Amino acid sequence: MESIKILEMTLEDYEVIKHNLTSDFDDFWNALILKSELLGEHKKYLVAKQNGEIVGFAGMLQNPPEMEIMNIVIKKQQRKKGIGTLLLNKMLEIAENNKIESIFLEVNAKNWVAKKLYEKAGFCEIGIRKNYYGAGENAILMSKKVNNLQK
Ligand SMILES: CC(C)(COP(=O)(O)OP(=O)(O)OC[C@H]1O[C@@H](n2cnc3c(N)ncnc32)[C@H](O)[C@@H]1OP(=O)(O)O)[C@@H](O)C(=O)NCCC(=O)NCCS
Repeated sequence: MESIKILEMTLEDYEVIKHNLTSDFDDFWNALILKSELLGEHKKYLVAKQNGEIVGFAGMLQNPPEMEIMNIVIKKQQRKKGIGTLLLNKMLEIAENNKIESIFLEVNAKNWVAKKLYEKAGFCEIGIRKNYYGAGENAILMSKKVNNLQK
């Protein structure tokens, strides 16, 4: 099996996945949101490709010295194979190369799978945003320090 390549997401990649975004990847991000994210200022999106097929994507907002991880989404049939970790590690590498000191993200408090992915990469829970995703849908705020020059 060909190894996974992590590349910067292009508009061509977007055109490929926009029709099957909710069915194959995730049901809480629609194509229009993804497109506006992709074109957003200071945003960078990555894709994971295997044999030319997009098997996952992830996005970040860079605002040095901080970075926010916007999302990581792996194709439903390709989860639990380490692809989310590959995308997350690439974002950590980008952070280290861009003088980022702290990375933040929000994750649905019920999304224990994503929370485990982030905890495994060294993210810690630093707060809760009540009803962030709607009534009764709390977000957990997580953070990780990188390039901590004060140490
Ligand atoms: C969360 C998500 C990105 C994880 O991607 P993935 O490629 O499946 O994750 P990995 O295979 O790299 O797993 C990394 C770690 O996450 C945890 N994990 C991932 N899937 C898991 C599962 N089904 N059950 C338990 N733990 C799981 C484990 O700790 C795992 O490490 P391990 O394999 O050594 O046990 C993926 O499930 C997904 O796309 N979910 C829907 C979108 C989403 O919720 N994104 C996060 C929004 S912030």
